[in-house]
Amino acid sequence: MGRSLTKMGIIFSDIVIFLFLLLIQNFADSQRNDIYYNGFKDHFLKFDGDIAQVDPDTGLMRLTDLRSNYQQGHAFYSLPFSFKGNFSFSTTFVFAVASKIGPDELSGQGMAFVIAPQRGLPGSLANEFLGLFSGTNNGKSENRVFAVELDCVYSVLFDTVKGPHVGIDINSLNSFNSTDPGYFTDGKYKHLNLSSGEPMQVWVDYDGIEKKIQVTLAPIDVSKPNVPLLSWSQDLSTIFLDSMYVGFSASTQTVPTYHYILGWSFQINDTAKALNLSSLPELPQSPPPPPPPTKPPNSNSKMLIIALAMNARLGDFGLAKLYDHGADSAPTSRVVGTMGYIAPEMHYGMPSTQTDVYAFGAFLLEFACGRRPNLVAERGLHLVDWVSSSMKENILLSTVDKKLGGEYAEEEILLVLRLGLLCCRFDPTARPTIQKIVQFLSGDASEVDLRSLHTRDEAPVRYVGGGSTSPLSGTHVGSTSSGNDPTASRHSGSPTSVNQASPSVMRNAFTR
Ligand SMILES: *[C@@H]1O[C@H](CO)[C@@H](O)[C@H](O)[C@H]1NC(C)=O
Ligand SMILES: *[C@@H]1O[C@H](CO)[C@@H](O)[C@H](O)[C@H]1NC(C)=O
Ligand SMILES: *[C@@H]1O[C@H](CO)[C@@H](O)[C@H](O)[C@H]1NC(C)=O
Ligand SMILES: *[C@@H]1O[C@H](CO)[C@@H](O)[C@H](O)[C@H]1NC(C)=O
Ligand SMILES: *[C@@H]1O[C@H](CO)[C@@H](O)[C@H](O)[C@H]1NC(C)=O
Repeated sequence: MGRSLTKMGIIFSDIVIFLFLLLIQNFADSQRNDIYYNGFKDHFLKFDGDIAQVDPDTGLMRLTDLRSNYQQGHAFYSLPFSFKGNFSFSTTFVFAVASKIGPDELSGQGMAFVIAPQRGLPGSLANEFLGLFSGTNNGKSENRVFAVELDCVYSVLFDTVKGPHVGIDINSLNSFNSTDPGYFTDGKYKHLNLSSGEPMQVWVDYDGIEKKIQVTLAPIDVSKPNVPLLSWSQDLSTIFLDSMYVGFSASTQTVPTYHYILGWSFQINDTAKALNLSSLPELPQSPPPPPPPTKPPNSNSKMLIIALAMNARLGDFGLAKLYDHGADSAPTSRVVGTMGYIAPEMHYGMPSTQTDVYAFGAFLLEFACGRRPNLVAERGLHLVDWVSSSMKENILLSTVDKKLGGEYAEEEILLVLRLGLLCCRFDPTARPTIQKIVQFLSGDASEVDLRSLHTRDEAPVRYVGGGSTSPLSGTHVGSTSSGNDPTASRHSGSPTSVNQASPSVMRNAFTR
């Protein structure tokens, strides 16, 4: 597989991320109906550009900062959600808008909760466009964008409320319904200052049977008011695609402003889980000085632009299937699948998400090295061991497929190789999570993180013998450095013991 693709001269990293997204799409299809973050220390969000980001120490998300004026920032959940049938959704989040100026100046611009066909809003502008639209596409039905805007500034172009306002937007900044920011308590209306720097909570609820959107706002120490601030009747299923991304957008004008998000809960077809307000990150007392410029945009970021094919399957990926064999006999479970992609635990019938991570790791290595793991197994060696020993000898680049013709960024291919090895660890719990893998491949986690994970120097595992797709049983041989692993020794005894093979012998075995 790897071979023919490299011949086509396609940038391998794009292929890798494409196939991986297909793999995780399965998880997305089957599992994901909600988002829940009290602070964002550990997140699965994607930011475009380097403006929006999370403070790794506090977990506080900011969409814009004080480094310059006229900013826009976006943060979207990395995977799309399924908006099918008469879907409903519900979300709540806590935000704060803090400018570095005193009174009498305009803070903001403002921010918005967004549901959009893409992760990011291509062509959008800052200022009164809120990072949502541009003069060219504002009002176009092709946008398929739903937003609830929290706008601190009146715009002559779009707004009917002559001041700060909350609005329900569909494809356009000319809100369908909008009003002054505030909330109802004990039958009385209380005004809120959107740009006070104080945290406030927003609830957006869409009922797919009544076809009605409701928006509610309150200070953080007030529980959800019974009366919504704003409502609008609209069948969103005629606006949305089946698959949409959810996230946030913000923009600034002349006054540098922080747009913060402290916590976020989102749910399809049910009420969003209440946030735990006592575990949200704290806001800085006063806006801190501008942060130092961040690193230049990572070259890997292009990888995530690839579209997925908020139904393709890797059917022939070789993921293991367990066949129970015999009714009453002792453990005779056998593993069937494409050899080399099968994680060691499958030989004992303990599949998990991390089993697929192993298969993905083997695939990464195949792609970078241009060698099939099972082909290597025929020679008594597993590709994983070969790459692993080359890394220990500091000659990792020598394993790279010559057919790539040097047309790759060295750090990119090293990342793929190291990540492949990490995914192929013997111990399933030592393999990275799918979220972590996405972070590595999208450049959100650094190379240093990856190296540090490798310092726990556990060797991956190999298999010996067998044909490329034949059932195998008891063919597992322990790994080089985990020779005292009891499970490994129980399954040793293959005629071709590789434990004696020196790295150079191993390499010769590959040189055809
Ligand atoms: C949400 O509910 C609708 C209507 O019952 C249903 O068609 C749709 O499949 C549900 N969506 C999800 C993601 O569960
Ligand atoms: C959606 O709801 C409408 C009533 O609002 C109903 O007529 C229609 O059959 C429903 N569609 C699906 C796919 O459930
Ligand atoms: C909102 O709060 C900010 C920060 O305290 C203040 O500068 C601004 O004047 C307030 N705006 C209104 C309309 O009260
Ligand atoms: C706008 O929202 C308010 C508050 O929910 C509601 O009373 C009003 O009817 C809505 N306007 C329209 C045109 O739906
Ligand atoms: C909310 O967060 C606090 C502080 O992190 C924690 O002690 C508490 O158990 C949490 N409450 C719930 C209901 O999870």
